[in-house]
Amino acid sequence: MLKTITFSATFLFLAFLTVQCTNTESKPKDDPTVQNPSELPKTEADDIKRGEYLVQILGCNDCHSPKVMTEKGPVPDPNRMLSGHPADEQLAPIADKGILKGYALFNMSLTAAVGPWGTNFAANLTPDDTGLGNWTLEQFGKALREGKWKGMDGNRMLNPPMPWQNYVNMSDDDLSAIFAYLKSIPPVKNVVPAPVPPAS
Ligand code: HEC
Repeated sequence: MLKTITFSATFLFLAFLTVQCTNTESKPKDDPTVQNPSELPKTEADDIKRGEYLVQILGCNDCHSPKVMTEKGPVPDPNRMLSGHPADEQLAPIADKGILKGYALFNMSLTAAVGPWGTNFAANLTPDDTGLGNWTLEQFGKALREGKWKGMDGNRMLNPPMPWQNYVNMSDDDLSAIFAYLKSIPPVKNVVPAPVPPAS
């Protein structure tokens, strides 16, 4: 009887060891014994990396980051990345308002745009309370794919030039990767001004 118990216990222990050794989840990506790293489960770090890539190729920085001038031209200000139109930036006055009937004007950083729709300011996408700090993934999806301000039903639609129509078919995976990345960047306190309706 004792023998049987010892045998069963040894067998269970060996089975446990086998499961542990074949459990791919516990293998890091740089483990040379992993044949195909892309088949490993996604980690949060993978999401953040992919989110960063997507934000770059989708051009979110174009409008959402103040710029600094470099030898290569304007680039996103690394200290205020994705923090939206700076609250303290005064827009240059427009001498001939009539021009707005046929044109859209941008400030130098592209964070503010004036057109027939009024003046709109790119939002703070950093994880500060003045940005996406309190946002849920669900809200983010409603803003990006349905164009709802603050990602809430019943709110106004997002104004131009936020190109949310381009993102209506964004996959859940891409959406959550972008959100994970935005939640991982340094928070920047910046209360973006409210839109100004067109002058009548
Ligand atoms: C061409 C300029 C432009 C680009 C490119 C752009 N945005 Fe925007 N975005 C804006 C502007 C302007 C607003 C504010 C619109 C408003 O107030 O109605 C905005 C608003 C938003 C909002 C809503 C914020 C809120 O408080 O409701 C989110 C979220 C957002 N953008 C995320 C993104 C992401 C992510 C990308 C890249 C995938 C992106 N935007 C690309 C200009 C842009």
